[in-house]
Amino acid sequence: MRVTLTVNNAVETVEDVRPGESLLFTLRERLGLPGSKNACEQGECGSCTVYLDGRPVCSCLVAAGQAEGRSVRTVEGLGTDAGLDPIQEAFVAAGAVQCGFCTPGLLVQSHDLLEHNPNPTDAEIREALAGNLCRCTGYEKILDAVRLAAAQRG
Ligand code: FES
Ligand code: FES
Repeated sequence: MRVTLTVNNAVETVEDVRPGESLLFTLRERLGLPGSKNACEQGECGSCTVYLDGRPVCSCLVAAGQAEGRSVRTVEGLGTDAGLDPIQEAFVAAGAVQCGFCTPGLLVQSHDLLEHNPNPTDAEIREALAGNLCRCTGYEKILDAVRLAAAQRG
């Protein structure tokens, strides 16, 4: 099957997509975008989170065919030529990255949170990130990073 979609503002046509192939697989293995991580492939960990038409989704649970004609934004598309997005800068500054496996999904989810709620409470941050699992950090530095990004965004 052929799938045409927009990824990080570029129109992409992918040939020979298998029925049932996940959007995550297509992004990583066919489009050379390994930022989104494959950890559980069951919608449990959030490491594969990308924007689909502006809403965060677990790309392991979306069939590539479902993305036909739609717009995807991955962690690679958060920053610009001018530099990293403030949420990416904040994760680095706060020391919220250890192994990094959870980080791309957390960045997309945190980015979405701040787009809709520029000054979230700690409870709102925890709720927004509840579907993104991290085995390394204990989450405190991730909360610090989101607080820092919110403060820097003003
Ligand atoms: S790899 Fe998609 S939710 Fe874990
Ligand atoms: S930094 Fe390792 S899983 Fe989160």
